Amino acid sequence: MSTARRVPTAILISGRGSNMVALIEAARAAEFPAEIVLVAANLPDAGGLQRAAAAGIATASVDHRPFGKDREAFERALDAELQAHGIELVALAGFMRVLTPWFVTRWQGRLINIHPSLLPDFRGTHTHARALEAGVAEHGCTVHFVVPELDAGPTILQAKVPVLPGDDEASLSARVLEQEHRIYPQALALVASGAARLEDGVAIGR
Ligand code: GAR
Repeated sequence: MSTARRVPTAILISGRGSNMVALIEAARAAEFPAEIVLVAANLPDAGGLQRAAAAGIATASVDHRPFGKDREAFERALDAELQAHGIELVALAGFMRVLTPWFVTRWQGRLINIHPSLLPDFRGTHTHARALEAGVAEHGCTVHFVVPELDAGPTILQAKVPVLPGDDEASLSARVLEQEHRIYPQALALVASGAARLEDGVAIGR
């Protein structure tokens, strides 16, 4: 059995949590450098919470709605959960809240996200529909360090897929999602082991 320290990690979700499941499964291996100790959602009915609980992972729900427009107050409540669980690394997996500079700065270099496009193309939402509309030949996904500017952080890993004749949003998103499940665990391992890190706003060692 490995004796290396595993970095206590939280996954933040808003929905079904298929990337979360991919991370939890990868982290079952004793030699995986991150340990998933918490899954937290901003919506109490996020489907991924039940999947996480079924996998034996602690869950928390911090509903953003009672906080209204005060994003930072919501994030302070979320941050309190992360602190309470001794979290050192945070992986966003379909977490659909824009984070304030307060939270991003606090977790700088220890906060990663997966985005369903080849960044810097198609930041924001509806990436598959916009890729089809633009007529690109290649699409894909990106794992990146989170910085205050939305979907603009340095890339850790990317995977490309072809856009095929006859593709619609469903077929294209399914092809991309398969790659998300492959690269997100790899990227988390790179960051948790220190092989990839954020230095002076640039991703080093990937
Ligand atoms: C994934 O495709 C992820 O890349 C995307 O949401 C989906 C969540 O699916 N994230 C974003 O769009 C972030 N802006 P999942 O809940 O099954 O992992």
